[in-house]
Amino acid sequence: MTKKIEAFIREEKFEDVKKALYDVGIVGMNVIEVHGHGRQGGVTLAWRTGTYKLDMLPRYQVNIVLSDHNLDKVLETIQKAAFTGQQGDGIIFVYDVADVIRIRTNERGADALRYEDDIDERLKKPK
Ligand SMILES: Nc1ncnc2c1ncn2[C@@H]1O[C@H](COP(=O)(O)OP(=O)(O)OP(=O)(O)O)[C@@H](O)[C@H]1O
Ligand SMILES: [Mg+2]
Repeated sequence: MTKKIEAFIREEKFEDVKKALYDVGIVGMNVIEVHGHGRQGGVTLAWRTGTYKLDMLPRYQVNIVLSDHNLDKVLETIQKAAFTGQQGDGIIFVYDVADVIRIRTNERGADALRYEDDIDERLKKPK
């Protein structure tokens, strides 16, 4: 089964997360700049004139479609790299993916998710 990870992370953690993903052999990914909030509903800023609520904070949404045998490793990698321990570290959603089609080659499913020197190629290589 193919899965999709959507990780909502701090903007300032994106470079660390990206590097950690490259280090474990994740090749295909995309990123979107989003605005949102979780359980705190944003932050309240104090001004001389009173308080002001900033309810939609900027985050990066990192999307990765991958084979499920790589899921746990990649989730751990993201969580470790995005962690500060403070509120607002982010959230990760995982979905089932029905199919993948690489347009150029018409490869389907796991074949369409194969890349040179990716996480699976590295597992096969003798150390
Ligand atoms: N239920 C949700 N649905 C969609 N997006 C969400 C949801 N919860 C959080 N997000 C997105 O994740 C981002 C990060 O959320 P955040 O880290 O504040 O989560 P949290 O659940 O409030 O955890 P914490 O208590 O650590 O702050 C939000 O800015 C928003 O973009
Ligand atoms: Mg929060």
